[in-house]
Amino acid sequence: MDKLVIEGSRRLEGTVTISGAKNACLPILAAALLSDEKSVIRNVPSLKDIATMLKIFKNLDVKVHQDGGTITIEPKGYKKHMAPYELVSTMRASICVLGPLLAKQRYAEVSFPGGCVIGARPIDLHLKGLKSLGAKIKVEKGYIIADGKNLRGGNVYLGGHFGSSVLATANTMMAATLVKGVTVIENAACEPEVVDLATFLMKMGAKIKDHTTHRIIIEGVTRLHGAEHAVIPDRIEAGTYTIASAITKGDITLKNAKPEHLVAVIDRLTEAGLSITKVPNGFRVRYVKKLKPLDVTALPYPGFPTDLQAQVMSLMTVTDGISIITEKIYPERFIHISELNRMGADIQLEGASAIVKGVKALSGAPVMASDLRASAALVLAGLAAKGRTDVHRIYHLDRGYEKLEEKLTKLGGKVWREKEK
Ligand code: EPU
Repeated sequence: MDKLVIEGSRRLEGTVTISGAKNACLPILAAALLSDEKSVIRNVPSLKDIATMLKIFKNLDVKVHQDGGTITIEPKGYKKHMAPYELVSTMRASICVLGPLLAKQRYAEVSFPGGCVIGARPIDLHLKGLKSLGAKIKVEKGYIIADGKNLRGGNVYLGGHFGSSVLATANTMMAATLVKGVTVIENAACEPEVVDLATFLMKMGAKIKDHTTHRIIIEGVTRLHGAEHAVIPDRIEAGTYTIASAITKGDITLKNAKPEHLVAVIDRLTEAGLSITKVPNGFRVRYVKKLKPLDVTALPYPGFPTDLQAQVMSLMTVTDGISIITEKIYPERFIHISELNRMGADIQLEGASAIVKGVKALSGAPVMASDLRASAALVLAGLAAKGRTDVHRIYHLDRGYEKLEEKLTKLGGKVWREKEK
């Protein structure tokens, strides 16, 4: 296993190109299973999670071809309908093949994904969405077995205890494109990744209305054709480099980034005193004055993304004053706190809120990455800290950040990968 080593206290400056969005790409690849025809997906990031999805495709006897950031999927004639435990257990997002397999093959067996370090992560809303389309679902031997003999359109409210669900919306929307009748999804998620998926489905011939709202209407069609699509830029990667600029008192221009997908993040960080200005095809993030502490609440889109909660916390650890960071999507997503405190941060957890007292400086330390975004938060803390930080268990980072050390090095960071002894 590898670790990432960071020599901290270096100002980052220059230009970084933002990759395609992992969380848009995964359901879009799954959507290609709804057709018999070839689809071509561009701007695909080179990440472990994408490789896992392609393994699921190969396991289904679906042909895939990867040429750099372009993936060609040829589902012609595939008959299989199973996503096995060995693959689903390594990536929760594999659940998004459930809707397409059910709609296309009228039967699917997908391993139950289980919980993970950021909290319980149930799948009741996925099942509710598919049942509202007439699917018969049972769980046996750790597998979700879905029978779609009698699928038809239906109305469903997809609001859970913590608001809307991104992948439950995606699963229901994908399945609804190929069933007879009209489906209405109430309290649908409207994250940019859901909108991008709907855009791709419409290119395949799906009839979808109001896909940028919380009430998506889908009129089923009898078949979908293949399509070509370039995935949107990764707003979470862009947000992470935005915070990298802030935490290193830097000046970074983000190329191929969409500020309109990061409105809450830009609002909070400009409130703190960061300069963020639009440039053609991106934006520029400059540290121009001492930052102020913030109150941040992670909420469904267009609120502040939970996937940037840990990273903004790293920034607040070195921002004078008291910040309060509240998590409303995954109330247990706070494993990074103990590791940040090992680096000299002063953070206390009160229920689902972290109270962060800014300290003068962090000091480099060996730390353990627990999940993808917590890992990114530790890298950011390491960039700001005095001395050397070793981030262990970085396989999480390889799931979600393309060429992280290469990009940071190009910006002037001293970051490298080492084999664990
Ligand atoms: N929830 C339920 N029941 C369900 C599904 C979700 O109660 O059936 C709850 C969750 O436990 C959570 C809330 O609803 O409290 C929202 O979860 P959501 O379903 O939206 O999460 P997801 O679709 O499984 C995607 C991203 C996550 C991101 C969340 C929230 C992908 C592949 N994953 O997950 O990304 O945190 O939306 O924005 O799109 C990451 O990239 O590191 C990551 C975890």
